[in-house]
Amino acid sequence: MESAEKLSQDTLDQITKTDSLEKLEDVRLAILGKKGKLTSLMKTLGSLSPDERKNQGAALNQIKTTISAALDIQKEALEEKELNARLSTEKIDITLPIRPEASGAIHPITQTMDEVIALFGDMGFEVEEGPDIEDDFHNFSALNIPEAHPARQEHDTFYLPKQEEKSLLLRTHTSPVQIRTMREGKPPFRIIALGRVYRSDYDMTHTPMFHQVEGLLIDKKINMGHLKGCLIDFCRRFFECDDLPVRFRPSYFPFTEPSAEVDIGCVRSGNEFKIAAGEDWLEILGCGMVHPNVLKNCNIDPNEYQGFAFGMGIERIAMLKYGIPDLRSFFESDLRWLRHYGFKSLDIPDFLGGVRS
Ligand code: DAH
Repeated sequence: MESAEKLSQDTLDQITKTDSLEKLEDVRLAILGKKGKLTSLMKTLGSLSPDERKNQGAALNQIKTTISAALDIQKEALEEKELNARLSTEKIDITLPIRPEASGAIHPITQTMDEVIALFGDMGFEVEEGPDIEDDFHNFSALNIPEAHPARQEHDTFYLPKQEEKSLLLRTHTSPVQIRTMREGKPPFRIIALGRVYRSDYDMTHTPMFHQVEGLLIDKKINMGHLKGCLIDFCRRFFECDDLPVRFRPSYFPFTEPSAEVDIGCVRSGNEFKIAAGEDWLEILGCGMVHPNVLKNCNIDPNEYQGFAFGMGIERIAMLKYGIPDLRSFFESDLRWLRHYGFKSLDIPDFLGGVRS
């Protein structure tokens, strides 16, 4: 009995002196393991008389409980110590400044859209969105393009399988966002809508997917003068040329009356050109006064409200501003192209992007 007491005391001393989890485990095995000292003592109980066995058994069990508790406490303390030691060596220095990633770049399409949003945003236009998958009504009919109209063929539409008698298609222009905006809200409206459009076409100047920006302004007493002022301002600011000539040429679109195409001035020498006050012209967008039928299709009284709309290709104005020669290169995902024409990813995009870089 006396040796058991001594064993207990010695073990408790050893436990408190351990400085690692491995050493603690060694102590545990030496006392409580299969061949441990206490385990061996317990095995001797069988050879004792019933009375002795009862006393000795109770005493050994008590020692076992005490030692187990001491092992648990020490284990927890050592685990905490090891964790703290690891935390102090594995520190992350979050005070390091970020390193600009030289290989990332903003795609010219994104940059151009940001510039367009900044410029029209300055004139009070808000950004609206519409779905890429449209129906016949929003893409054609509501825009005053009747069933048999040749404009439908001109758009080379990608049709989707019919769903419940409804013709679904990939939108061929951003103009359906005009319809959605007017049918869902109340005038006045002053919005632009940017995004992807799709047409079955592929050559030097056409890709099956490209980007457009649509503009729509509806209010009381809006006239062609407002349309011209707004678009002349936009062209001059976007191309960073205060005296840039802007010309409105009569044209035809089913959803506007009158309709016009807008050209900007350029100087040409051979295949090269420069956007500036010059002799030549480049076409950049279509526009017009919103057709009364379109307003009626959106439950707006054309005698009370009028307005103008315009549509522009993002790739086209990006190519002209940044001197990108081939439309198809926009979508080839060639990193060398992106490094050359891309914009620094950490610059805050604004409409002066072209001047700074
Ligand atoms: N939706 C026309 C197209 O894709 C572009 C356009 C022309 C939009 C005149 C307009 C507009 O809003 O008024 O060719």
